[in-house]
Amino acid sequence: MLPQTIDETAELLSATDYVCSRPLATVTFLALKLGRPLFLEGEAGVGKTEIAKALATALGRRLIRLQCYEGLDAASAVYEWNYAAQMIEIRLAEAGGAGSADRAALARDLFSERFLTARPLLEAMRPQEGGAPVLLIDELDRTDEPFEAFLLEALSDFQVTIPELGTVTAPEPPIVVLTSNRTREVHDALKRRCLYHWVDYPDFETELAILRARAPEAQEALSREVVGFVQRLRTEDLFKKPGIAETIDWAKALMALDSLALSPQVISDTLGALLKYQDDIMRIQGSEAARILSEVQREAAAG
Ligand SMILES: Nc1ncnc2c1ncn2[C@@H]1O[C@H](COP(=O)(O)OP(=O)(O)OP(=O)(O)O)[C@@H](O)[C@H]1O
Ligand SMILES: [Mg+2]
Repeated sequence: MLPQTIDETAELLSATDYVCSRPLATVTFLALKLGRPLFLEGEAGVGKTEIAKALATALGRRLIRLQCYEGLDAASAVYEWNYAAQMIEIRLAEAGGAGSADRAALARDLFSERFLTARPLLEAMRPQEGGAPVLLIDELDRTDEPFEAFLLEALSDFQVTIPELGTVTAPEPPIVVLTSNRTREVHDALKRRCLYHWVDYPDFETELAILRARAPEAQEALSREVVGFVQRLRTEDLFKKPGIAETIDWAKALMALDSLALSPQVISDTLGALLKYQDDIMRIQGSEAARILSEVQREAAAG
């Protein structure tokens, strides 16, 4: 059953260790309630993809993922005919000396379910055990405008026509989550169909809650220092700011090294878990890390 309130939505997600801010819980609840696609934009590693996975797990639905990339076309997103298998079938029929009646049957057979390879969009429109699936259309900004236009149509009527077979209509519309890193603007027409939410970096308490959920073995004092440091780091002028994924990775790296507290040396040794560009590492390493750490510790002491 779908959650009936915003609180229920947040609880459902937190049961799968996904920590949801109130605005995100609200827009998710509304997307489910109104049956509208959820469009999530935000920086890398802030939990856009993860929420679709968490929703599927929490609702007991199948997760179907369409990973977008440059050059993705409708055929790779909906269905393809298995050309190799069709060729083999033809060769076998030829070798067996097929008569004219066989040939007619073969021609029909070649475009049947047996030779159809369903891709994510078609898969999402087929009946599923446990109810409509969660369809994750991930990193939409990587595709081009023609694909977006195609998607707009597919998402408006949730049906796909295969000329040789007929029309497949979803018995119940899938729960759609679209994500974008905003490397380009997605077209207004598509956005208009969706409920939009910008997923921001979490505040201190939320990130701490995420760390508690995702790295429960980390000690509270270390977790607080880690989150404090990352939050401060995000205010620096960096080429690529660390996401939540990096916070979790860093805490795990520190634990693997048996570090109980941060020190400038420990930070320098493990910065690669947090920053992924040499320029950023060079900037922060050494005295800059020590300065940020002392600020974080001073703030923590002040309460
Ligand atoms: N709200 C959250 N609650 C719990 N874990 C989270 C949350 N947000 C992010 N995470 C953790 O951070 C990791 C990265 O999140 P995710 O892959 O969803 O980021 P993303 O926004 O899709 O990033 P990208 O744009 O790079 O694809 C997740 O695997 C999860 O462990
Ligand atoms: Mg993602």
